Amino acid sequence: MTTDDAVVCTSLTVRRGRQRALDGIDASVARGAITGMLGPSGSGKSTLIRAIVGTQAHVQGTVTVLGRPAGSRALRARVGYVTQASAVYPDLTVRENIAYFARLQQRPGDIDDVLATVDLTALARHRARDLSGGQLRRVSIASALIGEPDLLILDEPTVGLDPVLRADLWHRFRRLADSGTTMLVSSHVMDEADHCDSLILLREGRLVATTTAAAMRAGTGCSSLDAAFLALLTESGPT
Ligand SMILES: Nc1ncnc2c1ncn2[C@@H]1O[C@H](COP(=O)(O)OP(=O)(O)OP(=O)(O)O)[C@@H](O)[C@H]1O
Ligand SMILES: [Mg+2]
Repeated sequence: MTTDDAVVCTSLTVRRGRQRALDGIDASVARGAITGMLGPSGSGKSTLIRAIVGTQAHVQGTVTVLGRPAGSRALRARVGYVTQASAVYPDLTVRENIAYFARLQQRPGDIDDVLATVDLTALARHRARDLSGGQLRRVSIASALIGEPDLLILDEPTVGLDPVLRADLWHRFRRLADSGTTMLVSSHVMDEADHCDSLILLREGRLVATTTAAAMRAGTGCSSLDAAFLALLTESGPT
């Protein structure tokens, strides 16, 4: 842990009934960089994200976000969050959706500015129901960007998008990180690790490694990130 960390999780465990959705996670998210949270379906990505946002029940251990306990009221204006099932109101226009979320989150901000960031200026007056999947995803991201949060957390923002849209979104994430926004982005697609400055790898609620794509390849001798992840799983032993 360093003062450069935006998020620090220590001995984080989340019980769901008898099962542990997360089991003793120690991990951190560096400021001003893109941290990828990667792991197969059910590995605990969304649970860990909810623990960081402060909406997860049955959390043990500590989660510190921007120097405060996760979920603190003071963090509301500083943390943007897009859930896995992003909520967009189909009958509202793009601009109205963003304005609504800004009011809901009590985060006033420049709507034109966030529309431009996600390249939706031309669609501002369109109703959300007329948009494509990728455009809807960008509306959700724009809603989280209002008020210039210090930390932006996106749960599987690229799932279901075609490769061109995925590449476009990762370019936008990079620009946000370059402008100082700390990004935490989950994905179950290993290839997306190449877009991240550092990685938190999960499997069945446990931390497999905190690493980078380059270190994964170098450490395992695998050029494919899928193969490198599988090799790391074998190294880290059975669950
Ligand atoms: N509401 C719930 N009640 C009980 N168990 C749950 C609930 N939601 C998730 N789980 C369990 O918690 C574990 C972690 O789930 P989580 O949704 O965090 O995984 P994930 O990595 O986000 O998966 P995905 O890639 O499919 O989104 C899984 O074993 C899942 O079955
Ligand atoms: Mg999930």
